Formats: sequence, C-alpha cells, structure tokens
Amino acid sequence: MNIALIGLGSMGYNLAKNMVSKNYQVNAYEKNKLIVESINNDNIKNLCLLNTTKELIDKTPSPRIILLSLPANKIDKCISDLINYLNPKDIIADLGNSLYLHSIEREKLLKDHNISFLGIGISGGPRGAKDGPAIMVGGSKSAWENVRCIFEDISAKIDNKSACCYFGSAGSGHFVKLIHNGIEYALMQGLAEISNILEHAYNMDNDLRAKKFEEILKTQSSSFLLKITSEIISAQNNNSQYFIDEVDNKIEQNGTGIWAIKAALELGVSIPSIYEAVSTRSLSNNFKQKSKVNNNDQILSEKIDDVEIPLEEIIFFNFACSLYQGLNLIKKSNVWDFFDYNIDDIFQAWSAGCILQGDYINFISQKYENHKNLNFEFLHSLIEEKCSKKFKLIREFNSNGIRSGLPCPVLSSNLAYYDLIFSNHKIGETIQLQRSFFGLHPIKSKKDDNKIKPYWTKL
Ligand code: 6PG
Repeated sequence: MNIALIGLGSMGYNLAKNMVSKNYQVNAYEKNKLIVESINNDNIKNLCLLNTTKELIDKTPSPRIILLSLPANKIDKCISDLINYLNPKDIIADLGNSLYLHSIEREKLLKDHNISFLGIGISGGPRGAKDGPAIMVGGSKSAWENVRCIFEDISAKIDNKSACCYFGSAGSGHFVKLIHNGIEYALMQGLAEISNILEHAYNMDNDLRAKKFEEILKTQSSSFLLKITSEIISAQNNNSQYFIDEVDNKIEQNGTGIWAIKAALELGVSIPSIYEAVSTRSLSNNFKQKSKVNNNDQILSEKIDDVEIPLEEIIFFNFACSLYQGLNLIKKSNVWDFFDYNIDDIFQAWSAGCILQGDYINFISQKYENHKNLNFEFLHSLIEEKCSKKFKLIREFNSNGIRSGLPCPVLSSNLAYYDLIFSNHKIGETIQLQRSFFGLHPIKSKKDDNKIKPYWTKL
C-alpha cells in the first residue's frame, strides 16, 4: 500500500514524521501555504509535498491508502473530491475525531464506488502522533488487513504489544474514541476538583499540591493525566507567575463528550460523571460573570488541617468509577448490530499512547483478565481491593469540599453512582409509588413480581 496523506496540521504532520521514521514513503497535500512553507523548511526525508489532491493521487500509485487528517467538518467535501480519482483497491481512512454515525454513512457511500473505508480514532495529541499514538479502528476488515502493519508500526507499544486495535465495522473505531474522550473529560475534571479542594479547603498552595500529585505517580493510581496535572499546577511564566492563576477559565470542547452522552441516553446507560464534566464545560461559558449574590456566609470558612487525605485512593476511586461508566457504555453498544467488540481489546487500545493511559488502567485491565465480566461486582471488587480501608476518608474529602462551598460535580457523581448501586436506599421504591399515585402506573412487588394495588389506584 502506498501512502497519501491529506492535512498536515499538528496531528497530520506528526503522524507523517512518525511514518517516515519507520521508513515509509509519505506523499502529502496541505492546503495552507504557510504550513507548507514551514514544512518545506524542515526538509523531511521521504515526505513529499504535492500541490493539489489530484497531483497527490497521480503521484501515489494504486493500491494506496489515503489518510485524512482533517477537521471533522471537512471530511465529506474531501471524500467527494477524491471519489473521482480513486481505484477500487484504494482505501480512504479518516483519522479525525469524527462522529461514528458519519463514519457508517461514509462507508456506505464509498462502497457504492468500490472504495474501502476505515474510520480511525487516534489518541495522544501531536506528541503521541509523532512518538506512538493509540489507534482505534473500524471499517472494512479486508482493507484493515492490508494496512494494519503500517498502523501497528507507528502505534504506541507496551510489553511489545501495540495499542492498536480493530473493533469491527465502520463507526466502531470512532465510537471507541469518543467514549475514550468522554472518560478523558471526567478524569480531567476529577483531578481539577481534587486540586481545588486541596487548595481551598486544605490550604495547599500550587507547589504543595503539585508535589502531592507527583507522589501519587509512584502508585497504582498513576496516569498520564495525573502527571501533566502535577506539572501544570506548579508551572510558571517568565515573571514567576503561575499559569494556573493567569489562564482564562472558559473550557473549550470539540463535541466528542456531547456525542458520548447522546449515545448513553439512547442506550439507557448511566454515565453521570462524564455528563457532569461535559455540563461543566457548557457552564464555564458563564464562569466569568460575577453573580450579585454570593454564598460565602453559608459555607465553612475555616481551613481543615491535620486530617489524613488518602489521595491515592481518592484518585483511584474516581478514575475507576468514571472508566467503568464509559466501558459499560461500550459494552451496552453491542446491541447495535454494527458493533461487536470485546472489552479486552479496549484495554489493549488504551494501554499506551492515549490520554487515558496509566498504571490505574493497566491494574484494572489485569483484574479484568481474571474476572472476565464487566459487571457491578467487578467494579465493587476493584474498589474493595484498592479503597475499602480509606472509604470513609474518601467520603470525608468530598464532604469537606461541599462544606467549604467548593463545586465537585464529578467527585460527587462518582460517589452517588457507587452508592446508588451498592448502598441500601429506597429511592426506587419512593419514585415508583409517586408514579403510581398520580399516573396509576402499574407497580409490582419486589418479592414475587405480583402486582400491588395501593388504595389510591381505586378512583
Ligand atoms: C486525544 C484527545 C484529542 C483532543 C481532543 C480533546 O485522545 O488525543 O482526546 O482527541 O485533545 O480535542 O477534546 P476537547 O477539545 O473536546 O477537549
């Protein structure tokens, strides 16, 4: 397979560097002349820039794979431009953050022209793209077999295994990637909330918090996200000002988290911490507005000292709950006939190179190898093993945040998720009776499934 790449933005260019470093010849096209100029100055061996897509296709003999590293909204136009130039053995691979439903449509369209399609989620940002990303693939199986060696060569590796997996028909790779991103949002915000509680309730300055996080890197709660969070908290500009005290607080998003929530709603799967993280991003549009009302007189103002903070367990608990929610959504998506993949492969794809990578996920993946069933017992066994001795203190940490007026929607929703499943409560019973009272909806006994008819059901 000869390689043609369209789009040399930060992802495309770094993927190209990765491929040429593995001795592949890459022909490429980039529309933006400034980017082209700067890449020409870099003078990369085996990377040949062409002036138009037509020229790119002419100079790359068939059979060829055309890699699209473009924003999601540019993919359809690019595919329709390419269709006329391609041959039946060619493959188009979309490497962007596309919606899985669009990948399914694109495969159908290309099939009519006898062109194969792959929808490929790539994680790790531009650094990962250059040094070895995680790769999540969906689309034509035979097309994949023809090009898998290229992707395995450039992917991240752990214990000689590639973080590069095929998940089934078109859409599956991008679906796995969007769930990866939903979990990514929840973990990022979980760490941000923990940091905020440590700062304002426990009186820890930027350097101390960074140090506390750094210490956890030696444990099984370690992760790439924890590592970068510890670094960014204490990073300073040239005037010795902390970036964390300087940066604008509106959070941007590219839409993958919202797609994860839509899929969860459609499948009836609960992913509250992912939802809370996306919701916070939307609310952050208003973070700057100063409210006329403040709630300072309702909150605990004294700082909390001298209490044990089980940071390793707090982080593990929250990461495990958020990860579990995302994995459960993937598991439930198997009811869609176009998806059929197993959880082992998800762990493999997320074992290295991606934003979710870390010791916590490798630990959970090892446990899964024995348990082989992604059910609530599995979540419970993980939390029992890692957190049971500190569980009261995990609750206390959240409570101290709340008592101090510190928002912690992701931490709270993880705990509520866990308690809804594993603690004794009568929430379901109360709501069923409320529904029965005003709507006369049928209700049944939990003991024997027999109908219950309270007096209010007789009009
Ligand atoms: C990754 C990232 C990557 C990118 C997204 C993040 O896995 O490498 O998820 O795809 O950073 O843009 O999403 P937001 O822009 O929505 O934060």
